[in-house]
Amino acid sequence: MSEKLSTKPYKGTRDFYPDEMRQRTKVFSSLEKTVRSFGFEKIDAPIVEPIEIYLAKTSEEIVNQQIYSFIDRGERRVAIRPEMTPTVARMFSGKARELPRPVRWFSIPNLWRYEQPGKGRLREHWQLNCDILGAPDEFLADAEIIMLAVEILKSLGATQSQFIVKLSHREILNSFFEKRLGLAKENWPTIARILDKKEKISGEEFSSFLSAAGIDAVGQEQILNFLTGGLQWLRENPEIDGAGYLLELMALLEKSGYSEHLAYDPGVVRGFDYYTGIVFEVFDTSGENRRSLFGGGRYDKLVSAFIKEEINAVGFGMGDVTLFDFLQTHQILPGPQRELQVFVASFPTPEDQVNSFRLAREIRNLGIPAEMGLGPAKLGKQLAEAAGKKISFAIIQGLEEKDRGVVQIKNLETGEQVEIPEEEIVEQVKAMAGDRYDTQK
Ligand code: HAM
Repeated sequence: MSEKLSTKPYKGTRDFYPDEMRQRTKVFSSLEKTVRSFGFEKIDAPIVEPIEIYLAKTSEEIVNQQIYSFIDRGERRVAIRPEMTPTVARMFSGKARELPRPVRWFSIPNLWRYEQPGKGRLREHWQLNCDILGAPDEFLADAEIIMLAVEILKSLGATQSQFIVKLSHREILNSFFEKRLGLAKENWPTIARILDKKEKISGEEFSSFLSAAGIDAVGQEQILNFLTGGLQWLRENPEIDGAGYLLELMALLEKSGYSEHLAYDPGVVRGFDYYTGIVFEVFDTSGENRRSLFGGGRYDKLVSAFIKEEINAVGFGMGDVTLFDFLQTHQILPGPQRELQVFVASFPTPEDQVNSFRLAREIRNLGIPAEMGLGPAKLGKQLAEAAGKKISFAIIQGLEEKDRGVVQIKNLETGEQVEIPEEEIVEQVKAMAGDRYDTQK
């Protein structure tokens, strides 16, 4: 006997059977609704791109260790997209002259990174991307993108205390390295990576990493003050680039009612090389899920990798894996219930079958999804199978009932069954379904 093939999906990826797919669709539809309410329009693009679009400005870690790339049959080196931002910049650049600005675009691509799978981290994930390009005033675009991030979580049922947006500005860190620590530019990434690790390592480890990178005790104290001093530190150090901008942005967001969702955190480093202005990450505050729910920032130089013009741009990506963990932890993940469905039983004779098809078509035309029995099985078996598929109601009409213009309608959850005139199917289903019908419309 030959050995059977594995039924498992590839490491770090997921199959979506109907129950999981239904939940995913519900969550994604809710995201889309919120994003569209801000005027964003949906885009999509190929999953494969020329590798060059990632080499310049995506993070070193992604390009060197995580990218899925291959040589195609025409000797081109291509990559399966590990992120959407270079594609967004490429697409904008391709039509830069004709697109009315600002552009507000969103997409929900599947992205591939060769990661060690773990909690909140897989090799394939779906990521909601929202980006604004070419805004007349980048300050307002920054404010809007953060408001959108907050509204997305609120529309999924999250409350204020369950998440926090941690915000900083690329220039603040760079300027601190240069003006306070007097570090040469080539050392900035090493120190930034150590700061990025701070929450995950002990105080002693943090100090020994910094010493090894050449930061003396005075420098280390300055780093601690910088990391823990909050907005007060920024106010006291106005000559630090980006400090004034960030303070102003925080003030606008506060006046607009978003302050409780926000915290300035100079430790938000973000690994991508293309960020030039604000950078932010959104975290679950429960302590259950340590990975960020969103990551984003301003990237004003990425479009100029494609065209001469420099275009300001800001956006974020929110992954489905971390989002679902978050929704589950806070018990706001929508259930896997099916859309309201009617089952139409079938009968053995051809005349009956024509009638069942007609009935199912008419019910669908009335706006109610209807699934038809496809087998010669006994009625009881058909109904048991329909109940097993979580269908709410069965409509039964043999030719004798057809002649009388009536149907039997059976609630498959309660077993209740009544005979009604055929033209009352919709009303009866609505009445029997109660609230559920309204909420699912
Ligand atoms: P990122 O920080 O790499 O940013 O990813 C954003 C989010 O995608 C993360 O917060 C996380 O929810 C999810 N994510 C990333 N990698 C994985 C993974 N291996 N498994 C599961 N989830 C993951 C970017 O990708 C930027 N391009 C976002 C952006 C858009 N910046 C501007 N516009």
